[in-house]
Amino acid sequence: MDSKPVSRRTILQGAAVAGLAGASGFVPTKFAIGNTAKVKVGIMLPYSGTYAGLGEAITNGMKMAIAEKGGKLGGRDIEYVAVDDESDPAKAPENTNKLVTGEKVDFVVGTVHSGVAMGMVKVTKQSGTITIIPNAGANAATGPMCSPNIFRTSFSNWQTTFPLGKVAIEKGYKNVVTMTWKYAAGEEMIGAFEEHFTSRGGRIARQILVPFPNVEFQANLTEIAALKPDAVMCFFAGAGALKFVKDYAAAGLKGIPLIGPGFLTDGVLKGQGEAAEGILTTLHYADNLDTPLNKTFRAAYEKQFGKGADVYAVQGYDAGQLLVQAMAAVKGDTSAQPALIAAMEKAEIKSPRGNFTFSKAHNPIQDIYLREVKNGQETVLGVAQKGLIDPARGCKAV
Ligand code: PHB
Repeated sequence: MDSKPVSRRTILQGAAVAGLAGASGFVPTKFAIGNTAKVKVGIMLPYSGTYAGLGEAITNGMKMAIAEKGGKLGGRDIEYVAVDDESDPAKAPENTNKLVTGEKVDFVVGTVHSGVAMGMVKVTKQSGTITIIPNAGANAATGPMCSPNIFRTSFSNWQTTFPLGKVAIEKGYKNVVTMTWKYAAGEEMIGAFEEHFTSRGGRIARQILVPFPNVEFQANLTEIAALKPDAVMCFFAGAGALKFVKDYAAAGLKGIPLIGPGFLTDGVLKGQGEAAEGILTTLHYADNLDTPLNKTFRAAYEKQFGKGADVYAVQGYDAGQLLVQAMAAVKGDTSAQPALIAAMEKAEIKSPRGNFTFSKAHNPIQDIYLREVKNGQETVLGVAQKGLIDPARGCKAV
């Protein structure tokens, strides 16, 4: 393949010659014919089930970022091909292959669920397809499974809750119950919290695991009431988080502080209402971040989609920005993969969360905010940890 960057004129000439080639049987070797076609962006996200709202927000955010820059990538029109991955890890290899082998996409943008991401990354690491993860925090994706063609615009699971361990100690909590759906995301978020919390003398009274995506919490809430911990640290997200927080309050447990990664309230705060008051979380974003960029972004998003933006919309927006920057750098030549990857590695993303760059393992280096729900608003209390770099344990590139 010719990997020299091509100008827009070359691409257009290529189109003309490619047309000619069809009629005459002449096959030009000078330019990559693929560059005359639309850029194919494969989207693998949940559009059904408990994470459906997350998939929708990511899609909206990504398309909005690209539309803001003229709706093209490196001067080329775009064809989006989307697959609903249903947050089902068992279907991940087949769904990824639909995009990579079936549709021959130039990029894969996916996904939300850590288990699905593992299956997806296994496929795209092998095929070499440039992949941008706009949510799933699976530590392994920028750890043992790290790869030159895999990038993440969201977070590693470790990153979201490591700072919370120290926060809990500073709040005076000594005895904490942890609770999550039983799969990589929650287990890794709880793991990072526990690592930090216990290293400073904290104790985990009990770890409660619920099968994903179950939302029957009653028996567990009764157990928590009996254990009387100083606080409950938990991970749920999407529709599951909405129900958990309401059930927790309805069970009369509001006297036991609820803490966790910000996914516990992000995107579902309105629906949780009064039940969410006082929840203390750490995350790389907060609705109320007082920066001009965040305000413009939120206003534009609300105007376009008729609802408030959340962390998922931001992560999608930043995936879109990364595509725009990288494709501009190679002038739309997707065959110039080393140059594309180099541009992505050097990218500085002007995100509504604050500017960020990528670590050697291709994970955002970013501030983690401390947030508390006050009067129905996600209030920023400060920065829990500045410029946090995921340790990328097991990544050979680091
Ligand atoms: C994940 O599975 O990695 C995951 C899902 C939803 C979130 C955060 C992480 O809100």
